[in-house]
Amino acid sequence: MRSLRAATLLLFAALLACGEDDGGETVITFPGSAVGAEAELVRRQIERFVADRPGVRVEFQRTPDDATQRHQLYVQRLNARSDDPDILQLDVIWTPEFAAAGWLHPLDRFGPDTADFFPATVRANTWDGTLYAVPWFVDVGMLYWRTDLLDAPPATFEALVESVRRGSSETVPRGFVWQGARYEGLVTVFLEVLGGFGGAIMDEAGDVVVDSPEAVRALEWMRSLVERRLSPREVLTWHEEESRFAFQNGTAVFMRNWPYAYTLMGREGSRVAGDFDVAPMPAAPGGEPTTALGGSQLAISAHSDVPDAAWELLDYLTAPEQMLERAEVAGQLPSRPSLYDDPRLEAAIAVPADRAREILEAARPRPVTPIYSQLSELLQIELHRALVGQKSPADALADAARAMRETIEESGIRDLEARR
Ligand code: GLC
Repeated sequence: MRSLRAATLLLFAALLACGEDDGGETVITFPGSAVGAEAELVRRQIERFVADRPGVRVEFQRTPDDATQRHQLYVQRLNARSDDPDILQLDVIWTPEFAAAGWLHPLDRFGPDTADFFPATVRANTWDGTLYAVPWFVDVGMLYWRTDLLDAPPATFEALVESVRRGSSETVPRGFVWQGARYEGLVTVFLEVLGGFGGAIMDEAGDVVVDSPEAVRALEWMRSLVERRLSPREVLTWHEEESRFAFQNGTAVFMRNWPYAYTLMGREGSRVAGDFDVAPMPAAPGGEPTTALGGSQLAISAHSDVPDAAWELLDYLTAPEQMLERAEVAGQLPSRPSLYDDPRLEAAIAVPADRAREILEAARPRPVTPIYSQLSELLQIELHRALVGQKSPADALADAARAMRETIEESGIRDLEARR
């Protein structure tokens, strides 16, 4: 009996401790990404947030830079129904999955102003008619090129190859660098090349079309870059940061990357400061320059024991002022179209703000479905097999498409979507 009472007391104490520590503090835990200038920026913004709120403490925890690894980390912790973390930094492709799993706190009751965000980002964060995350910043893929080596950026894939040959030398040996490791980043690069060749991963009806002739041509072209040493073989293990280091050290002619790299490479210590610019990804006849829609959202865990405090922080971090500061310090683009008329944004980013807005509005989303991560993993495996030379691009894409179709079939997701 005594041990039962002790256990009850312990449980009670443990419940009290959730979200509040002994001193009656409210603790908000927030594991997020700290790529490039992000860590310093988020630390500064959190400091300002807590300065006005005695009794509130925010614990920012750095997560892996690799998007797929961060996904795994979140899934493990949410599956364990832990009350830590409170705030989640979701990739634009994860919200439906996490919402459908019951892991996210619905945000409608807080009354966020969804009309002030890019519609594609609101759609990506809405599941079953309910908003589950607030867009924090938007990412778009861009082609970085060396203005000291070339006169103009290439508009076609063929021209890119020629420019790599022209721009390469003993000191600039690496040609075109990109994200080729087996993770989500590879899917975004492929999506852009694929769009450039006129293909898509899924069509408008939600059918998998990643084994089309256009897709085979796109993957063949990517593989030929490695085979012809126009891209170093190491790209097949690289993420965003390894590509940035190679380009920033002056060893590459081109790089595919997100906007965050722009600000960092203009700073002291960069060997290419003043010698690079950005352009849209190239396209082949029949395709169009394609940029993947990426970016981060903030959400509250359904298991959080301090959802109201978490909302306050989320609302603060996604407010216009913080977004402008993020653009200035980290080069990351606001998810609120109204900020594209702000002179501070114009001064902060790589391309004229109205052009950036146009690019964002035309960016290509990845499929919005709760089984996106599963489909992406199947695709990542096969893309990577083709790139390392284990399979032909045609076989790899045929196998990926078959596995993706089976997964969709088994998941019953189409019936669910039809019912909704
Ligand atoms: C960036 C993008 C994200 C994408 C990831 C891939 O973080 O914002 O959307 O999935 O890169 O590496």
